[in-house]
Order: sequence, then structure tokens, then C-alpha cells
Amino acid sequence: MVTPATRMQNIRYDIRGAVQQEAERLEKAGHPIIRLNIGNLAPYELYAPQEIVSDIAENLFHAQGYSHSKGLFQARKAVMQEAQRKGIEGVTHEHIFMGNGVSELISLVTQAIVNPDDEVLIPSPDYPLWSAAVTLAGGKPVYYQCDPVNQWAPNVKDIASKVTAKTRAILVINPNNPTGAVYSKALLTAIADIAETHQLLLFSDEIYDKVLFDETEHVSIAAVNPRVLCFTFNGLSKAYRAAGFRSGWLIISGAIDQAGDIFNALETLSSMRLCANVPAQLAVQTALGGSQSIEALCAPEGRLYEQRNFAVEHLNAIPGVSVNSPQGAMYLFVHLDPELYPIENDQDFAMQLLQQEKVLVVPGSGFNLASNQYFRIVFLPKIDDLHEAISRIARFLKERLAAPDT
Ligand SMILES: Cc1ncc(COP(=O)(O)O)c(C=O)c1O
Repeated sequence: MVTPATRMQNIRYDIRGAVQQEAERLEKAGHPIIRLNIGNLAPYELYAPQEIVSDIAENLFHAQGYSHSKGLFQARKAVMQEAQRKGIEGVTHEHIFMGNGVSELISLVTQAIVNPDDEVLIPSPDYPLWSAAVTLAGGKPVYYQCDPVNQWAPNVKDIASKVTAKTRAILVINPNNPTGAVYSKALLTAIADIAETHQLLLFSDEIYDKVLFDETEHVSIAAVNPRVLCFTFNGLSKAYRAAGFRSGWLIISGAIDQAGDIFNALETLSSMRLCANVPAQLAVQTALGGSQSIEALCAPEGRLYEQRNFAVEHLNAIPGVSVNSPQGAMYLFVHLDPELYPIENDQDFAMQLLQQEKVLVVPGSGFNLASNQYFRIVFLPKIDDLHEAISRIARFLKERLAAPDT
């Protein structure tokens, strides 16, 4: 019997876990499923701007060779200009690495930086790829609390109290997946101050930085404190609806003089995978320059705006269900009142919801949260589909109220 490497033992990624596998089995058996589990826009007919698709098609012939391992000059230059727009100082194209999505760059950075037993401060709830990548690198995720009664803002005191001699970095996911929280400049300044005081690195996952509602502004933590070495991650998957093209970038900024051999380590890892997907890199300049089509989708009458409002209103109308109206991203992190719905195992809860009502959600514990009372949905489906899905969730919960042991 071949066994996986021991390093795989504690690696979890429940967004595509057992409940998703059951959904696939049910679909194969002919049951249509309403999928509310993954932030993948194209299946919901939220497509990339045509200009991006055309530019890739037009340049495909010239994308046959490997590019520089750090990425195409023109793509990195476009990212450099984006850094300038975001107020991140001192960035040249040399400080930018292109990757096969943010996911690959998370893996590269954690492999290059995290030593065995190093601690990385990670939000709870988190986007679980970060916990998995830190663990795979031999490090230890240490969770800081985010406060559900304060729009899920990170608790700065909790972050400070969890810094130890082993802490290497603080991660912020802003806008946040799964909570949709967008962090204020004051909050980011306070977090960056902790990093500066204790000479920690900052990792900032900003893949949803343009998916913003209600005129909320996004601030990059790299822009608020240039004295900290900061790693900022972003890409084409969300704002540009091009997740399948696999394109992302990493900006290293701030205390570059403290970066030592980190650039060399990252270049080695980048060279080992030769280069990032070249056709998609050809779309980065087009994407970042000019008008941003995501804005209309997030403004009143835009699909994402209207779907968010619909889902928030209808979920909150179910007895014992509550959810914040998120300021960013594309998720609702839904709370179930433990008095009405005491849930012992939220994986079982999601599995039963799937089997009974054919609605696929992600259990909250999959986001490294020490509570069974949450699940996450995307608000990407059109309103009719959201209506159907939320009605089924309401029916499921009503039955549970009537017969809590089933
Ligand atoms: C917070 C966060 N970071 C990174 C990713 C992955 O992005 P990419 O498609 O660029 O790998 C996701 C995907 O859902 C995400 O939610």
C-alpha cells in the first residue's frame, strides 16, 4: 500500500472536501445541485471582459514559449503601475513575481520563507489555503480572532497577544474570504504597527480588492507602513472573472533592505516551475489599465450588488439565521442560532442539507473557526436561483426545528 507523505497528514482544504465529493456523486446519479460553494464566477455567467479574452486569443501565437520565470516584463510593469495607484511606494518590476494564480504564489512564498515551527498569525475564520500552505512548509498557523459583532474586524489586541519569539508573519485577507469584511486604514495601521514593533513580515491577500460595495474603499496594508517588509497578493481570478486562466501576482514592498536572500529564494522556486501561464500574462496589462467592469457589477442595479442584497435580506428573514451585509468579496458567512439549531458537527449539517435539499454550502469549520454554527455560501447565482436555494435552506431548517434530532 502506498501512503501519502507524512507532511500531508494535517493538510485540509474542505472547500473541495467530502461534501463536494458527495455533490459530484449526486450529480452523476442525475440530481441537479444548486452550488453555493465556490467563488468561481464563470459557471454563474459572470464572464471575463471580452477585451481580455480577445487579447489572449490575438496574442496566443506569441505565447508558446516560456517567459522569464518572474513573468513577462509588460505584465510586471502593469502590476508596478497598479502598486503606484494603490500608494505602495518604491515598487519596480524587479519586486514583482507573476504566478499561476495567487494560490501558487502563496505556496511559493510560504515555501521560501517559513521554517519548521515558525508561527504565522492567520485570521480565524481564514481562507484555508493559507493554513494548508503554512502547515505544508512545516510552520504553525496561529489563529487570531475576528469579531462577528464588529463586522468581523480582526481583534488587534488578540493579534498582539499571540506574537511569540517564533512568529514570522501576520496574514491579512482584505477583503476577507469568508466574511466579506473590508478593513479600515486605522485597523490596518494598527496591525502593521505590531509587525513593525516585532519585526514581522506582512502577507496581504487582496484578491477581492476591487469587489467592493456601498462605496467602500480598499486600502492596501503595504501602503500604510513602508517600514515593514510586505508581500501583497492579487490576480485575475475575481475582479476580472478569469479564474480558469490562472494568473496572479506578488508585490514585495516596504523594507526591501531587510529582504536578504528572499528574492533569490523566490527566484529559485519560480525557476523550478519555469514560468507562469504565458497567455494569461498577456491579459494583465489590459485588465489593470482602463475602465474596471467589476465596478458596474458591484454598484446599485449591478448583478453582484442586487444578489448580495437579496441573499442577505432573505437569509436574515429565516428564524435563527443571521448574516452581515458584506462590504466586499462574494460570500456570506451565515450564523445559525445555537438555541434554535444546536449543531454538533457542521460537516454533517452541510451533508444533510445537500442530500435532502440538493444545496451545496461549505461548513464554517472548514475556515478554521472553532464554532459549528456557521456555513458559507457564494451570492454568485442569479436571483431566481438564490431564491430557490434560500427557500430550500429555510425548509431544511424548519424541519430541523420541528425534529432537532434528525
Ligand atoms: C482569499 C483568496 N485568496 C486566494 C484565492 C485563490 O486565487 P487564485 O485563483 O488567484 O489562485 C482565493 C480563491 O477563492 C481566495 O478566496
